[in-house]
Amino acid sequence: MFDPIKKLKEHLRFASVSTDSQFKEGMAASQKFLAGLFSEMGLSVEVVDTDMHPIVLAKREGDLNWPHILIYGHYDVQPADPIELWNSDPFEPVERDGRIYARGAADNKGPQMAHIAAVAELLEENPNLPLRISFLFEGEEEIGSPSLLPFLESRKGELSQADLVLLSDTLSPSADQLVVTVGLRGIVVMDVEFTGPNSDLHSGLHGGAVYNPVQALCEVCASLHDSDNRVTVPGFYDGVTEVEEWEREELAQLGSDEEDYRKFVGVKALHSLSGYTAQESVRYLPTLEFNGIGGGYQGGGSKTIVPSKAMTKISCRLVGNQDPKKVGDLVRQAILDRTPEGILAKIDMGHQGAPYLVVPPGKPNSPDNAPVLLTKAFEAAKVAISEEFPNSALFLREGGSIPIIADIKTTLGLDSVMIGLFLPEDNLHAPNESMNIDVLKKGIRVSKSILRSLAG
Ligand code: BES
Ligand code: MN
Repeated sequence: MFDPIKKLKEHLRFASVSTDSQFKEGMAASQKFLAGLFSEMGLSVEVVDTDMHPIVLAKREGDLNWPHILIYGHYDVQPADPIELWNSDPFEPVERDGRIYARGAADNKGPQMAHIAAVAELLEENPNLPLRISFLFEGEEEIGSPSLLPFLESRKGELSQADLVLLSDTLSPSADQLVVTVGLRGIVVMDVEFTGPNSDLHSGLHGGAVYNPVQALCEVCASLHDSDNRVTVPGFYDGVTEVEEWEREELAQLGSDEEDYRKFVGVKALHSLSGYTAQESVRYLPTLEFNGIGGGYQGGGSKTIVPSKAMTKISCRLVGNQDPKKVGDLVRQAILDRTPEGILAKIDMGHQGAPYLVVPPGKPNSPDNAPVLLTKAFEAAKVAISEEFPNSALFLREGGSIPIIADIKTTLGLDSVMIGLFLPEDNLHAPNESMNIDVLKKGIRVSKSILRSLAG
């Protein structure tokens, strides 16, 4: 019998941090673990090397008339830092209060296990299940999936034969209320470096005569939003689309309270674009965020210098038809235009991904030509969720990004059915990440039920 909790704990012991080359061993171990697991399940496994971290493709082939479901997951995790804030070792999973604590428990090793376990159990119950399944697991999601798009393109003929993608790498609001995610924000990131004098200068000797790069950077950064929190980059909002009435109705059912949300994030006041609630801002609007800023002296005490350099990291989240390349160029150009004379700006563009939206069946703007199996999958998800959870499913757009989901749509023509299996209290990307075991167990039953109805 497949034991999903045991398997998940095993997987969580591998420190598969993709962004830091010190964790190469953890990455390799995690990839081998998945490959081993899939072959134990009787699937044919292919490990595809890339410039960075291998892709694991495992298949259950079968009659070409059987539906073919592509299940996506990522085995890389975020760094565990700051480690001192963890209550237990991030790579030694512990069970406490119905949760498993470990880095990657929620993002994404727990939720992906729901689908792995579902397939394992279905095949144990019925070795003749009329369904073709491909697991596509990558190790670069947390660094922008640089290898996955070229892989999709090189295997387009084969992978585009699938009917739809099924995954769980998005959020639900509570253990009682699951969300079927129908949209993801796009993303574009960049590093900005301002250089003033070619070395730090004594601020007594030179302060007042040269443009301080920290000052210049603060001025430029501050100019990128107005007092209403609207981004001031010309053309930034081009391509932002209207929100459908049904989407507002779904969101209203979430019953999210602004005051509760304010307390949850721990701020004295919220700062949404005026006219929008916090939930609307996160799900429907683009943003320009500063992810970090630095420059000059950062140590204890004081140091009287005009620093040589200042730097910031920026990420923009995108919605609708916003084009990440275009938005990245606009922001870059706005920063260059606003950089004062005497300061040299260097801007390195990082990874990017387009926004994604799929309209589920039964909505006024649902496409008439949606594939039958996609419609079936959404309907099955709705039924399965209402059988397992107290509230019926909500169909909502999400504020986070999984850039490859839009790429899968453009290259393979496939839409994704995303079952949100992590919760706000799961601490994604933060210390003490955890996965709710009850949600995972119910998630397995939901996935089984969806796959069973697709198999017909
Ligand atoms: N699982 C998340 C995406 C996510 C986060 C969905 C929150 C829903 C709610 C994913 O692993 C992730 O963190 N993605 C990055 C993408 C980036 C590194 C390209 C993100 O959203 O920052
Ligand atoms: Mn994830």
